[in-house]
Amino acid sequence: MKYLAFALLFSTSLMAASPEVVQYMNELSKTAKAENSSFSGFDAARGKEIFTSTHTGKQGKPMACSSCHTTNLANAGKNSLTGKVIDPLSPRANPQRLTSTKEVTKWLKRNFMDVYAREGSAQEKGDVLTYIMKN
Ligand code: HEC
Repeated sequence: MKYLAFALLFSTSLMAASPEVVQYMNELSKTAKAENSSFSGFDAARGKEIFTSTHTGKQGKPMACSSCHTTNLANAGKNSLTGKVIDPLSPRANPQRLTSTKEVTKWLKRNFMDVYAREGSAQEKGDVLTYIMKN
C-alpha cells in the first residue's frame, strides 16, 4: 500500500498537470497532428525556445514569455507591463499551476498575443506547456 501511494505520487509529479489539463494537451496533440502530419509529439526543448526567445509583441516592443515569468520558472516573476508580482509558473513550485484548463487557455491566448502578437498554434502551446511541466 505504501509502495502504491508512492508510485502514484511519483507518476503525478512526473505529469505535473491535472487530469483536465492532460486531457487538454491530448486534444492539442490531435490538432497538431491534423495540422502537420510530420508532428510526432511535444518537445520541451522547442517549448524552451518559445518561452525564452524575444519577439515583437502586441505593443510593438521586444518581449519574451520570460520577460514576465523569468527564465527560472520556480521563482516568482513580475509583470513587465504592470509591475505586479506573478507567482511561480512551475507546477512543482506552485501546485495551483496547470490545474485548470480554463486558466491555461485564457492565459496562453493572452500571453501569446503579448509576446508574438498572434495566437499560438496547437503545437506551440503543447510544446510550451511540456516545457513548463518539466520545470
Ligand atoms: C506581460 C507579462 C506576461 C508575459 C509576457 C507572459 N505571461 Fe504568462 N502570465 C502572466 C500573468 C499576469 C498570468 C496570470 C497571473 C497568474 O496566474 O499568476 C500568466 C499566466 C500564465 C499561465 C497560466 C498558468 C496556470 O495554470 O495558472 C501560463 C500557462 C502562462 N502564463 C504561460 C505564458 C507563456 C507560454 C508566455 C509566452 C508566450 C507567457 N506566459 C508570457 C503574465 C505574462
